Amino acid sequence: MEILRAGDYEGISRIAADLVERYVLNKPGCTIGFATGSSPFGVYRMLAERYRQGGISYQKVRGVQLDEYYGLEKEHKQSFYSYIKQNFMDKTDFQEEHFVAFDSLAVDIQKECRRYEKEVLSEGGVDLQILGVGDTGHIGFNEPDEAFSETAHCMKLEPETIEANARFFDSPDEVPGYAFTMGIGTIMKARKIILLVNGEGKADILKRVVCGRIGPRVPASVLRLHRDCTLIADDAALSLIDKTIQE
Ligand code: F6R
Repeated sequence: MEILRAGDYEGISRIAADLVERYVLNKPGCTIGFATGSSPFGVYRMLAERYRQGGISYQKVRGVQLDEYYGLEKEHKQSFYSYIKQNFMDKTDFQEEHFVAFDSLAVDIQKECRRYEKEVLSEGGVDLQILGVGDTGHIGFNEPDEAFSETAHCMKLEPETIEANARFFDSPDEVPGYAFTMGIGTIMKARKIILLVNGEGKADILKRVVCGRIGPRVPASVLRLHRDCTLIADDAALSLIDKTIQE
């Protein structure tokens, strides 16, 4: 795992936006896996700003949704679909029909997961996967477990995750208890992964991800086994790792 240090959130966003743009310029028809949440928000903002300035097009890019709340309709303002639409699709020339999303209202969950998996892996799978890490160590919504998941599935969210995501809803009761997610196996098949981590609040989990035991109890730790994963983190998130190195 390559580690790139940035002074702050803006720095992380700039490095990641450069990387995404370079990828798209080299491969205009690439497939990007989109995470949501606060970690990649600045990256999407910068990509949209730079798009307005000209010189790049996302018209041929294929997008893949990393995860989605189960039972929340696509149009709900807190659905991950709405997030990507508002922050990226509507602000660039990305074509909505090139986006592979979960049907969050699917009745047959297994069937929906099989359909999503097949679509994601068609056209060569994911080229560039953008990720954040949750307080539990989750990537996508792959929460700590006995074993790493392979393919798409619907996961029960940890109370800690529900609490963390309650900030986006009017009350914690409104946060869905389950979510669809891309499996760890499929995430690991992405050609390039960027993991964005900022803030002191993530320092403890980041230390476990980077220095702890690799295993499904800290799902993001598996990224250390990926052949081309770049962690982009700020000083605050890296502070406990710095401390360990100094000791
Ligand atoms: C969201 C996702 C989650 C988040 C993680 C961190 O699509 O896949 O794994 O990346 O929960 O969330 P933030 O960035 O809001 O701290």
